[in-house]
Amino acid sequence: MTDVFGLSHKDKSPVSGQARHEQVVFCSDEHSGLHAIIAIYNTALGPSLGGTRFYPYPSEQAALADVLNLSRAMAYKNALAGLDLGGGKAVIIGDPATDKSEALLRVYGRFVQSLGGRYYTACDVGTYSEDMDVVARESSYVTGRTPAHGGAGDSSILTAYGVFQGMRAAAEHVYGAPTLRGRRVGVEGVGKVGHRLVDHLVADGAEVVVCDVSERAVERVLRRHPEVAVVADQLELTGADLDVYAPCALGGALDDDTVARLRAGIVCGGANNQLAHPGVEKELADRGVLYAPDYVVNSGGVIQVADEIQGFDMDRAKAKATQIYDTTLKIFAAAAEDGVPPAVAADRLAERRMSEVGRIRGIWLGH
Ligand SMILES: NC(=O)c1ccc[n+]([C@@H]2O[C@H](COP(=O)([O-])OP(=O)(O)OC[C@H]3O[C@@H](n4cnc5c(N)ncnc54)[C@H](O)[C@@H]3O)[C@@H](O)[C@H]2O)c1
Repeated sequence: MTDVFGLSHKDKSPVSGQARHEQVVFCSDEHSGLHAIIAIYNTALGPSLGGTRFYPYPSEQAALADVLNLSRAMAYKNALAGLDLGGGKAVIIGDPATDKSEALLRVYGRFVQSLGGRYYTACDVGTYSEDMDVVARESSYVTGRTPAHGGAGDSSILTAYGVFQGMRAAAEHVYGAPTLRGRRVGVEGVGKVGHRLVDHLVADGAEVVVCDVSERAVERVLRRHPEVAVVADQLELTGADLDVYAPCALGGALDDDTVARLRAGIVCGGANNQLAHPGVEKELADRGVLYAPDYVVNSGGVIQVADEIQGFDMDRAKAKATQIYDTTLKIFAAAAEDGVPPAVAADRLAERRMSEVGRIRGIWLGH
């Protein structure tokens, strides 16, 4: 018999010291070649939501570690975005360029459906709105579809808008005014999120410097804003005389070397997982750099796709993403009050919401 009193959600999972996840599902279908893992970290606030990453992981173990980390991060992101959604994520192991097919996506959709709404999926690295349209032919629990299918479309629109709101909050905290006017902002990576962030910054009167490994991406920015300055790479950008550094490319932008080199007083960007390792948030704080936690300021994208669950309305979603400004200010205030870096304050606030709002379901409604 199961010892229900002996089970504790504080028990550690055997993988990478993570807290326990509610549910982890391995899905495979030999014919289509589907090999996927869906992880639900928690459903304290509602059904879990997080994208599907299609990536050629070197091993199942590597895919499992990634999906466990990503689903946990989604729980925190959704909690601080004020959504009634828990944290989940899925990975499909394979090369999206060669392994993606209609059959594989539809089989995947059937596995998502089999969870009965405990997990809503969306786009992530290697999957696009068009793919979600295919997955949605087999499942009702899909967001991030194309506008032609009633979807929210490209989530980078509100991601960039939300990062800009977070940056305005950082400016308010540091300079006493919620504007980047006259400030020098360095944007690393001008892809889907970065180039839209540049639009907001230029409109606000900031002086913008960019770098990107893709010449096409840089050219797109220069066509729209010829006044934007371009530097060679991340090394030059982070060593430049900046007020704000906005990492909008890959994860891990903030490692020990970068922090030591950084001249900006604020870090606020759209990239996920900016801190290369635990402890970097303290290094930043010790150097007097204000770090706006990545998962807080880049939550505009999940806000956009979450809105689709009730029938997408851009004005409503944008109003919700505007709240990132207040949430970011609240985090800076809590960090100052508790004497901890903003990243720690953000985690605490997210955990508090999951715990306080999550427990209301313990009240029996009588049916
Ligand atoms: N798209 C969204 O809605 C969304 C939501 C939340 C978080 N994010 C995160 O934001 C980041 C950017 O996402 P995106 O959708 O704009 O992706 P993207 O692929 O469109 O853009 C990334 C850009 O970074 C550039 N780049 C890659 N390596 C670089 C390097 N070393 N130096 C400079 N530039 C480099 C690429 O050439 C590309 O132009 C990612 O970390 C992503 O996880 C995106």
